[in-house]
Amino acid sequence: MTKRDTVWPYWRGIAIGETGPLFSGKWNGKVYKTDKIENGFMSDYERIFAPFREHAVRLLEIGVAYGGSCELWSDFFSHPDARVIGLDLALPDLMEDQHANSRVTLHKCDQNDSEGLRAIASRYGPFDIVIDDGRHRYAETLNCYRHLVDYVRAGGYYVIEDWGVGYWPDRQHIFGDRSGKTMVTLITDIMHSIPKAPISGYEVILDTNKCLSFFKKGAPWRG
Ligand SMILES: C[S@@+](CC[C@H](N)C(=O)[O-])C[C@H]1O[C@@H](n2cnc3c(N)ncnc32)[C@H](O)[C@@H]1O
Repeated sequence: MTKRDTVWPYWRGIAIGETGPLFSGKWNGKVYKTDKIENGFMSDYERIFAPFREHAVRLLEIGVAYGGSCELWSDFFSHPDARVIGLDLALPDLMEDQHANSRVTLHKCDQNDSEGLRAIASRYGPFDIVIDDGRHRYAETLNCYRHLVDYVRAGGYYVIEDWGVGYWPDRQHIFGDRSGKTMVTLITDIMHSIPKAPISGYEVILDTNKCLSFFKKGAPWRG
């Protein structure tokens, strides 16, 4: 089965089980092709995103694989004007801008492509939520944070998943950078950067078991 065969029937509404999912799980009685459910992330997302659920949320996810998480987000934020934008390096061409769910838009974009990120952000932002579930490498994750955090609305969240890869000493040639920075360093660097920004209303939530990080942007500084 080719990648396109695997993906396209799913987007036309054929049950996920028929398409040979890489990972899937059931949330609220429906199966989604995403690892967020089996990883136990939904209890964090349900708790932290509860105030947003009935609103016309704008969510950007970096790294969407077969799009199952975007489908989940579009059900999670059920307001008719909520929008989910997904980007991925390896999106099959057919899926780009042609999602069957009109509240979900997918774009092919590399996390390293600063211009591409800015183009997507200025087209669809500002966002209430940005989730980086892409490559989980230091450089790519930092690049996205640098370019996208300013597109998160005050009161919104910038989320980085799976930063615990920074604790794997034998994998830092993959996830870290040459100067010894790791995904854990990145999370702590972001925390250190917050006092330099207006800190009123800032919140950092680190789930150190599931390695989820939530950076809630503060209200605009009024001096
Ligand atoms: C863990 S999967 C995403 C899973 C999805 N968010 C979910 O919850 O089901 C990681 C995705 O990141 C994408 N990715 C890897 N490197 C990337 C890059 N440089 N730019 C954009 N996407 C990338 C991969 O193609 C893959 O689909």
